[in-house]
Amino acid sequence: RGLDDIKASGQLLMLTNAPFPPYEFYAADGDLIGVDIDIARRIARHLGVELTVSIRPFDELLPALAAGEADMVLAGLTINDERLKQASFSLPYIDAMQYLIIPSTENIKVLEDLGGKTVGAQAGSTGEEIIAKAIADGPLRKTGCQLLALADPAEAVAKVLNGELDAVVVDDTVALQLTAGHAALSATPLFSQSGAMLSEQYGVAVAPSNPELLSAVNEVITELKNSGELSAKIKKYEAM
Ligand code: ARG
Repeated sequence: RGLDDIKASGQLLMLTNAPFPPYEFYAADGDLIGVDIDIARRIARHLGVELTVSIRPFDELLPALAAGEADMVLAGLTINDERLKQASFSLPYIDAMQYLIIPSTENIKVLEDLGGKTVGAQAGSTGEEIIAKAIADGPLRKTGCQLLALADPAEAVAKVLNGELDAVVVDDTVALQLTAGHAALSATPLFSQSGAMLSEQYGVAVAPSNPELLSAVNEVITELKNSGELSAKIKKYEAM
C-alpha cells in the first residue's frame, strides 16, 4: 500500500507486540497505550487518517510487514543490519541498551557471568540474538548457559522470582518498568566481554516500497524530538 492507498482507505495499519512498557502496554481499563501508540497516532493525524493497531507475536512483526499486512511497525524495534534487509527504518527515536532482570541477591554484569545460567529473552528480540551468538561462538560457548525463548518479556518477573530462570535479557526501560515494586528483583545493565554497553536505537519500520510514508514518519519524529514532546511522553508513561 502506497500513501495514496492509505489515504483512500482512511486507515493507517500499525503492528506491535505488547506489553513492552513504556512503549506499548495496557492501561488499567484495558486500553493499549504508550510512547509508540502516541507516535503512531501522530503519524496518522499528519496523514489525515485513523490509526488501527494490531498485536502480533514479536517475531512475526517484520514478516507480516513484508507480506503487506500492515503499513508500519512500532514496537521498541531496534534498527540493525539484518532487519534493514527486510524493512526500511525511520530516523532513530530512542537510545536503548540491554539490561538483565536478576534476583537482587545476584551480581551479574558481563556476558560471561551468565555461564551455567538459564537465561530468558523474548523470541526474535535483539536480547535473544546477543545471548544466542555468545553461546554459539562467543564468551558463553561451552559454558552450560541455556537460552529460553519467551513469548512475552513480562513472563520474566514470575520466572525469575520462582527460580525457573536465572536471568532475563531485555531492553533497559522495560527491565526497569517490569521490576519496579519487586524488591526481590533487580534490573542491571548487561555489558559485553570487553565491558562495552550493548547500545541500540529504535526506529519505525515501514515497507521498503513506501518511501512516501517513510518521509511522513521522519517528519513527525523530527518534530516530536525537537519540540521536547517525545521526552515528555517517555516520562509520562514511565510514571504510569
Ligand atoms: N528492542 C528489542 C528488539 O528490537 C526488543 C523489542 C521488543 N518489543 C516489543 N514490543 N516486545 O529486538
